[in-house]
Amino acid sequence: MLATEIQYVQWHENETLRQARWLSQSNHVPPARIVVVDDKTTADEAYRLACAGTSMLWRGDFNNARQLLQALTRRIDRTNERSEQRKINKAANKSAKSGKPTDEASVTSKVIPNLFHQQRQTQSQRSRLLSRLLLELDAGYVSQLRRAPDVSAACTAAFGELNESCLLSFRDLQGALGAAGWRVKGVAIENLGLSIFPHYGVFAPTRHEYVQLLLDAPLPAVYDVAFDIGTGTGLLAIILAQRGVKQVIATDLNPRALACASENLARLELPAVQLQQADLYPTDAPLANLLVCNPPWLPAKPTSPLEFAVYDANSTMLRGFLQSAKQHLAEHGEVWLILSDLAEHLQLRSRDELLSWFANAGLEVKYRLDTQPKHGRSQDDTDPLFAARNAEITSLWCLVPFNT
Ligand SMILES: C[S@@+](CC[C@H](N)C(=O)[O-])C[C@H]1O[C@@H](n2cnc3c(N)ncnc32)[C@H](O)[C@@H]1O
Repeated sequence: MLATEIQYVQWHENETLRQARWLSQSNHVPPARIVVVDDKTTADEAYRLACAGTSMLWRGDFNNARQLLQALTRRIDRTNERSEQRKINKAANKSAKSGKPTDEASVTSKVIPNLFHQQRQTQSQRSRLLSRLLLELDAGYVSQLRRAPDVSAACTAAFGELNESCLLSFRDLQGALGAAGWRVKGVAIENLGLSIFPHYGVFAPTRHEYVQLLLDAPLPAVYDVAFDIGTGTGLLAIILAQRGVKQVIATDLNPRALACASENLARLELPAVQLQQADLYPTDAPLANLLVCNPPWLPAKPTSPLEFAVYDANSTMLRGFLQSAKQHLAEHGEVWLILSDLAEHLQLRSRDELLSWFANAGLEVKYRLDTQPKHGRSQDDTDPLFAARNAEITSLWCLVPFNT
């Protein structure tokens, strides 16, 4: 995980030098230039300041800050849409000059890996610009802004106790408030007939297609012990316990995930599941009849702690899970790997590469269950990566050791 060291930020206000703790969940460095703004600041002015690298400390009405952020978002998204279209047109022109096919689908598929990296860059630039609207919270996360809600409980849950004043982006505050809402309402997992309550910074199971795969896969003949590697909210461990596995050991590297899984398990009264903080496999554990893992699906570098569940540089977790699987498996045990092929459509990993990792780990495919995701982004044909997202298949690969 990326280290988050304690940092302070200084600014001038009413001819006084002020200082506060700097909080950034996206690992943004403390702003070098801060100006104080309020309800009189227009969206155009704020946009200009943000683009010029100036952060804005909000001293107006709380609800007006929310509106200003929406207006900023619209301006940034409009600019980004225009620049993405320019990139596709440029690629089309280049392709036309080379005498190769120029239809949009073929151009898009040719430039997809670049588009993916460009899209990530655009998103990170967007996040940096939007994070330039700041607010100050007093010790215990108390806001002095007009019409500010009580954000103390949400911030404490998301960022931990803090007994000094801090500066954070309005966006990070919204993230904490959103997570607090989820923690109360939960995410309904229809095919299980229950809700899961994600914590801030823990992978939220908003896509359920892989849940059905885990419900459909036939259990091995013996299923006394299973491991859920990278448990997140505890969802897969819960399914295994509900399917009758006697002992489930669930691990995660992220302490937030373990706290979250522990709460979800307690709510459902599932004592069969034990949690352990571990890099991949648990220690002091028996051999398992079943090893389950839903690793981050995209081999790309996470840029903030919040991205660790989605991006995995060089597929480190996936390869580590496969490489050591055999030594944790009991006789006739099975490995269930949940993986989408989006990385293949984005040309970030090839199918041959994946199959070679199975073979190098001494594993062969017993069967595979597939499903096609139906989430919003896979249907959005304005997304430059639509061709890849629309072709995505999520699979449960059942792997077993082969005799060498
Ligand atoms: C895609 S999420 C899956 C979460 C959950 N299993 C699910 O299906 O909803 C991947 C999880 O793996 C965890 N993780 C990443 N690297 C890990 C490692 N080396 N050891 C253990 N857990 C890891 C992340 O913290 C995250 O919770």
